[in-house]
Amino acid sequence: AKIHYHGFFIQATPVKRLCKTHNTITVNGMYPGPTLEVNNGDTLVVKVVNRARYNVTIHWHGVRQMRTAWADGPEFVTQCPIRPGHSYTYRFKIQGQEGTLWWHAHSSWLRATVYGALIIRPRPGESYPFPKPKRETPLLLGEWWDANPIDVVRQATRTGATPNVSNAYSINGQPGDLYNCSKKDTIIVPVKSGETNLLRIINSALNQQLFFKIAKHKLTVVGADASYVKPFNTSIIMLGPGQTTDVLITADQPPAKYYIAARAYASAQGAPFDNTTTTAILKYKTTPCPTKCTSTKPVMPSLPAFNDTATATAFTKSLKSPRKVEVPTEIDENLFITVGLGLNNCPHGARRRNCQGPNGTRFTASMNNVSFVLPSNFSLLQAHQKRIPGVFTTDFPANPPKKFDYTGNVSRSLWQPARGTKVYRLKYGARVQIVLQGTSIFTAENHPIHLHGYDFYILAEGFGNFNPKRDTAKFNLINPPLRNTASVPVGGWTVIRFVADNPGIWLMHCHLDVHITWGLAMAFLVENGVGKLQTLEPPPADLPRC
Ligand code: C2O
Repeated sequence: AKIHYHGFFIQATPVKRLCKTHNTITVNGMYPGPTLEVNNGDTLVVKVVNRARYNVTIHWHGVRQMRTAWADGPEFVTQCPIRPGHSYTYRFKIQGQEGTLWWHAHSSWLRATVYGALIIRPRPGESYPFPKPKRETPLLLGEWWDANPIDVVRQATRTGATPNVSNAYSINGQPGDLYNCSKKDTIIVPVKSGETNLLRIINSALNQQLFFKIAKHKLTVVGADASYVKPFNTSIIMLGPGQTTDVLITADQPPAKYYIAARAYASAQGAPFDNTTTTAILKYKTTPCPTKCTSTKPVMPSLPAFNDTATATAFTKSLKSPRKVEVPTEIDENLFITVGLGLNNCPHGARRRNCQGPNGTRFTASMNNVSFVLPSNFSLLQAHQKRIPGVFTTDFPANPPKKFDYTGNVSRSLWQPARGTKVYRLKYGARVQIVLQGTSIFTAENHPIHLHGYDFYILAEGFGNFNPKRDTAKFNLINPPLRNTASVPVGGWTVIRFVADNPGIWLMHCHLDVHITWGLAMAFLVENGVGKLQTLEPPPADLPRC
């Protein structure tokens, strides 16, 4: 196994999009950032040097980080931020994961521009469980703001209102030729007739689930979140932020240009979103070039309506593990966690301009009615390791404070979560089941829930309130998909299971950054087990201090 050394210089770089140039925070001047390519079993050593004027951390989204929680990255959870002028070296090993992951800043909204692909190929000498593709292309779906994303979130936090939506979606950092001033930079994906290519699609957008489609071409899904899936064909895929999907595509159409397109799947009524479409071009190398070459329009796929929940859930339900897997059948910890929005009454004496949510409220979000607050003077992991009291409490509730009709007409009194830094303690090796129950408080919405440090099996999903009597029968205990981010359907639920075999503190949160800003998060504290192999490694010497 190899050790890969990289330097990530976080810096402001002029980037021109949508006719304007902005000083954008990038890694090594690249937007999106560098693609990291490794083999299963390799070690990554990434020195992050902060030359920007913001605090920063980098998270290796989906990497299990076995016993190396110090390298996970969420600020104030596993480390204090890297301050301007400082650096920190992330060191971790890829163990057993193959496929596509990615990395992104985990500090304020910096991940809007600080992100890149992490490609994990099989160990040397081993091959993919599908025919070797001729070519591989990572496609990172993103969002572009004309404003500085940090200002957008600061403004939203100050006013309590919904933050502005982005000005464009993008593919590999480019909005594509349906947007102003973007045509000449549209990403071209070249293909040769008859060849099969592997596309590694990553939803790195901040706040939007996305549909993805390629005109006239069938997609064969072979992986998701760096786990292989049982291959199946589809014309469309849906990804929540944080999720990845690997697809094979065969160039079996008449040589021409075909649009690769992504557009919002905005499950909620009333949730602000942008209805535009980002495109790249799948271009056959032998595309005939009639008289006016530049004017030959690529073929456009028809994308589902923004609220086409049936298409979105049909896709997520098609994902299965390739063969029978070992799902824990006994459960030690059975948690029921509501995920949803809320509205806080304006605190007494607050100014009106700080309460610009509906009817003079402030937007909030919670899990089991706890709106998560990050500490500011320690990271949770440091506080845990050094036994510093007062940084967090271990009373995150295993159930909502009271039962209610989660997806029905929720009484106003339940709209106001309490703020807190609460973690849930798990014994090493505990077999955990979590019912993630969406709520319709304020508005029902789809929540891509991401768990750090783990992959989990998704046993079932459905609409309405989870009903153990009825819904347990639907659990797939044979070949459920293994993922790190689950799309909890709008007005519905998802059930996941995992074994707590990785000690540390692990954030679980909605991967819509606007929701994490409002507190849609919690953390697990997984205790050490017995012996070295079940114990968190000591912190690196250069771990940033707060
Ligand atoms: Cu990809 Cu906590 O995030």
